[in-house]
Amino acid sequence: MANITIQKLQEKKTAQSLISALTCYDATFAKILDQHTTVDILLVGDSLGMAFKGEDSTLNVTIDNIAYHMRAVSKAAKRSHLIADMPFLSYQINEDETLKNAGVLMQAGAHAVKLEGGASLQNSIRRLANIGIPVMGHIGLTPQHIHALGGYVVQGKTKTAKDRLLNDALAIQDAGAYALVLECVPEEVAQEITARLHIPTIGIGAGKYCDGQILVLYDLLDLNPEFRPKFVKQFLDGAALIANACQTYVNEVNDKTFPEPKHTYHSKNTI
Ligand code: KIV
Repeated sequence: MANITIQKLQEKKTAQSLISALTCYDATFAKILDQHTTVDILLVGDSLGMAFKGEDSTLNVTIDNIAYHMRAVSKAAKRSHLIADMPFLSYQINEDETLKNAGVLMQAGAHAVKLEGGASLQNSIRRLANIGIPVMGHIGLTPQHIHALGGYVVQGKTKTAKDRLLNDALAIQDAGAYALVLECVPEEVAQEITARLHIPTIGIGAGKYCDGQILVLYDLLDLNPEFRPKFVKQFLDGAALIANACQTYVNEVNDKTFPEPKHTYHSKNTI
C-alpha cells in the first residue's frame, strides 16, 4: 500500500495543500522520484508514445506498453500514488473490455487508471469505480483525440466550449472519479472548474488555480529541447548535460584516459 492514497489526495484538496505529479516510465527514475522527492503522484502516461517510443502521437500506445512500464515503476516506487493511463481503444470498445484492460493495469501495480474524455465516459467510470478501481478523468486537450481536435491546441476558450468542459467535469465527478486532469485550458476556466468540483483537479497548461500540477518528466528535465511548449518550465538543462557527459566519455575512450587503474581488474598472479 502506497503512502499517498486517493483519500490523502482528497485531504490535500480540502486542506488547500497542492498536489504534485510527474510522469514516470521506468524503475530508475521511479526510485529517484519516490525516494528522493516528495512528489505525490507518478503517472505512467501514454505520453510514453512520444517521449519513450519516439512516435508522433499517443495513438500507438498499447495496454501491454503501459503494463510493462507500470511493472517497472511499481517495483521501485513504494510511497507515491501510481496511476496508469488507459491507452487509445482500451476503454472505447465496450465496458467489459474497459474493465478487463483496467484490471491488467491494476495487476501491473497501478493504484488507479486515467481515461481521456467527458460525459460519455460516465458508465465506464461508474463501473470501474464500483469494483474498486479508482478513476482519474482527463479533459481539455486530450491527446488521444488529436485528429478530432485539429492539433495540440488550447481548449475551452469560448463560453460554449467552457460550458461543455464544466459539464464534462461535473459528469466525471458524478460518475465516481476521484480526480481530474485539466490539460491546456485557460487559467480562468480551470479556476472555475476547480472551485465547482469537490474532487482535486490536476493541471497541465491550465494555470495556477488547480489543486495540483503535472508535467511530463522528460519535458521538465529538457531531454528534448526541440519540444518546449509554453506551459513547460525547464528545471534542468538535461539534454545538454547528458550529451556533455557522454562526449567526455567518448573523448576519454579515444585518448585512453578511461579506464583508469581504479576501474580495472587484474588476475591474481599479476598483482
Ligand atoms: O500521458 C501523459 O503524460 C498525460 C499527462 C500529460 C497528463 O496524460
